[in-house]
Amino acid sequence: MSGPGRAAVVTGLGAWLPPRVVTNDDLAVHLDTSDEWIRTRTGIRRRHVIEPGEATGDLAVEAGRRALKSAGAETADVVVLATSTPDQPCPATAPAVAARLGMGAVAAFDVAAVCTGFVYALGAGAGLLASGFARSALVIGADTFSTILDPGDRTTRAIFGDGAGAVYLTAGDAAEPGALHGLSLGSDGEHSRLIEVRAGGSRQRSTGLSAEVADTYFTMQGRPVFARAVRHMAASVRTSAAESGWDLGDVDTFVLHQANARILAAVAAQLDVPAERFVSNIDRVGNTVAASIPLALADACHSGALVPGARVVLGGFGGGLTWGSAALVWPDLEVPQVRAAAWATS
Ligand code: COA
Repeated sequence: MSGPGRAAVVTGLGAWLPPRVVTNDDLAVHLDTSDEWIRTRTGIRRRHVIEPGEATGDLAVEAGRRALKSAGAETADVVVLATSTPDQPCPATAPAVAARLGMGAVAAFDVAAVCTGFVYALGAGAGLLASGFARSALVIGADTFSTILDPGDRTTRAIFGDGAGAVYLTAGDAAEPGALHGLSLGSDGEHSRLIEVRAGGSRQRSTGLSAEVADTYFTMQGRPVFARAVRHMAASVRTSAAESGWDLGDVDTFVLHQANARILAAVAAQLDVPAERFVSNIDRVGNTVAASIPLALADACHSGALVPGARVVLGGFGGGLTWGSAALVWPDLEVPQVRAAAWATS
């Protein structure tokens, strides 16, 4: 943040999941997979998915409403929505979300950084507060990857789920709990093709040819993505902690993108910190892309894994490739319940 003592402070948190639950056994009815394979390779037991006709914006509105309530606010100066599954290719989804939340003529835009989207959106929101343009920002991460997965692809169908989460940022003092610091963002476009949807953008449409169906689905090269996720999240987290003046051992709680339980374990090992300090809700929600970090924050608040005063580092990695992290001392927040079914134990 520019200016002595100025900071973007987290003063609200909310999250939302669609009600429909898809278990590993449900997937195994139509795909050549098993609960055992998915659990042992990913840590995932189930995920939530939207119904036909629903969209990312619907989840974003619910999460945004809860973050506003948590902050005791009715509106914000800007809405930043991180998503790679907008309601339509054009326009952005954020203005409609702001309108549905009754926020009036506020600035609103989308940010696309796939699974790192929420951290990039935090950076955009914090930057607008630092510039003096805004005094408050509603930062939402929402995705419905169920809409872009190949129904016959057992790997991606096993991993991804739908959801939304949001935080409310207020301009405040760098020394107060909730103040974001140590923001670190990066990208590697040389390897953009490791995670992609080939068709639907200008490169395909400029050919004038209709897209091959297979090219309209999300694809991912699991092994090289796994290795890079571990390397880049570990490095980014190190940077955020160091820039915050913390040793890694001083960090109480790591809230990283929930891509795969084995990735979280590998990052913990690489950083040489106990895996118990890493929040995990992937078993119940899968990889919810831009919603992953705020959903994990909300879950951790409710489970008691995240308590006021804890030193927290957030971190993400995703398509682009992109990665990012930030640090904060966790503030004392009222966090509305996420849909109860999500957190029930199976
Ligand atoms: N059920 C059963 N078998 C499956 C399967 C599933 N759901 N998904 C893949 N397999 C099979 C593969 O087809 C492959 O079979 P083969 O050996 O006959 O070709 C075998 O399991 C091993 O595949 P591999 O990709 O080497 O497994 P893996 O241990 O690397 O696990 C991922 C695959 C995708 C779970 C893992 O690579 C991963 O999590 N990568 C990162 C993904 C991610 O986080 N993406 C988001 C980034 S933000």
